[in-house]
Amino acid sequence: MVSGRPGWPRKGLIDALAVQGPMRICVIGAGYVGLATGVMFAKLGNDVVCADIDEGRVKSVRSGKLPFHEPELERELKKAVSRKKLTATTDTVSAAKSSQAIFICVQTPSMASGRIALGPVRSACRSVAKALKSSKDRKLVVMKSTVVPSTTDSMAKPLMERLSGKSCGKDFGLCMNPEFLQEGSALKDSMTPSRIVIGADDKKSGDELARLYKRIRAPVVRTDIRSAEMIKYASNVFLATKITYSNEIANICARLGIDSGPVLEAAGMDPRIGPLFLKPGLGFGGSCLPKDVKALKDKASGVGYRPRLLSALLETNERQPLEAVRLLENSIGPLRGKKIAVLGLAFKGGVDDIRETRAVPLITALLANGARVVAFDPMAMPNFIRVMPTVEYAESASAALKGADGCVIQADWPEFRGLGRREYSAMRHPVVVDGRRCLDPRKVKAEGAVYLGVGYGLAGR
Ligand code: UDX
Ligand code: UDX
Repeated sequence: MVSGRPGWPRKGLIDALAVQGPMRICVIGAGYVGLATGVMFAKLGNDVVCADIDEGRVKSVRSGKLPFHEPELERELKKAVSRKKLTATTDTVSAAKSSQAIFICVQTPSMASGRIALGPVRSACRSVAKALKSSKDRKLVVMKSTVVPSTTDSMAKPLMERLSGKSCGKDFGLCMNPEFLQEGSALKDSMTPSRIVIGADDKKSGDELARLYKRIRAPVVRTDIRSAEMIKYASNVFLATKITYSNEIANICARLGIDSGPVLEAAGMDPRIGPLFLKPGLGFGGSCLPKDVKALKDKASGVGYRPRLLSALLETNERQPLEAVRLLENSIGPLRGKKIAVLGLAFKGGVDDIRETRAVPLITALLANGARVVAFDPMAMPNFIRVMPTVEYAESASAALKGADGCVIQADWPEFRGLGRREYSAMRHPVVVDGRRCLDPRKVKAEGAVYLGVGYGLAGR
């Protein structure tokens, strides 16, 4: 059931819910999702406690510092901490016990098979169960971690019931409430979401969660728990499909000598297609899109369905970084012994997150072709060095470009747009492969470099 319209919650529902004071909310998992959720609820006037098993993270949150780069969220975290609206602890059970609502926001990483690892969710559920067992009051438990359909009702719910001796629906409420935030705009996306999805198998739990969100203006979708879980996958798979469609069209355009930019722009003007997420590049990375496509593929296979589209998304995405290798080879010949600068190691510009970054397959392919790689990223280098310790790193983009035979822009950091004649003239061969279509080809050419962009065909030369 969908209620409300953009900008307005459903009035009848909101009126029906009693006006209430601040709630005490526990958020388990102080990652992107947990901290954006915690800061959002603190901003809405609630008292929030963030629980995380990682002592370093807890210390950092207590001092108003985020464990990752997200400036707006950090500003608001500082305010919430100094106003004592948000605290942090490693004692998950006590934090959950002293709260009326508990949000599970722990990670659900991919295993080699593509299936999500449920260890962190199980461990969070065990802590919640302990808190439920020793509490007299009713609590609302909300699954926010991305989990494949049926996880909440067939794993989390029985586990919590068994360990707590309490009955779901009667002694505690249970909802599934997926998030749709993008890194880089985590707080804004939480405060002004495109929709709020409330999955509940009983009305009371759903109403309790709706009440927590009553000050957020967004359409509310009320559904059952499994559908809520599926909505998250349906959304991320569609985003991955749109990006992959753009990459496929761009790759074909490039080989036909057509610039894919105006082609995709015009296609996106059709409201049935839409203009967003149509930017071709070196593929999609990040903590969600690749993981969610793999997880849904695994889940579908488990129920006897072979999802060909999902397989094609993953295959095309793996191949996409090779477009940069192809463009380089076309321009400077075989890469053996050539020095290639890779600028941008994060999974996208503006973040220090390297989860599933396309920089890994890109650099691996460059090295496999005999190139010498020198890498740079304004924020993500400390994280990236841990996964590729033997690559050479430079302390700035201009240092990476010095003496290089070519360079690849892998993440769209705004500062790469400022590169000009001074930096390009220090390259041995001033060849720039724009893997994110974030530079102006005319400017690059005017500054003395050869511009090669993904999906540009001859038009970008
Ligand atoms: C989120 C979502 O929760 C995940 O389901 C979604 O698919 C991707 O985004 P994110 O917030 O990015 O994950 O996770 P992460 O940055 O890894 O933070 C999770 C935190 O949970 C970590 O700090 C970890 O220490 C903590 N955790 C894990 C606990 O506090 N308790 C546990 O039992 C397990
Ligand atoms: C994504 C979803 O957008 C968000 O709704 C969900 O909750 C979490 O996953 P995020 O991981 O922050 O958010 O990344 P996003 O901005 O979606 O980008 C994902 C990847 O796709 C990046 O590697 C990015 O460079 C790439 N991308 C994105 C494109 O190649 N082209 C585009 O047009 C958009």
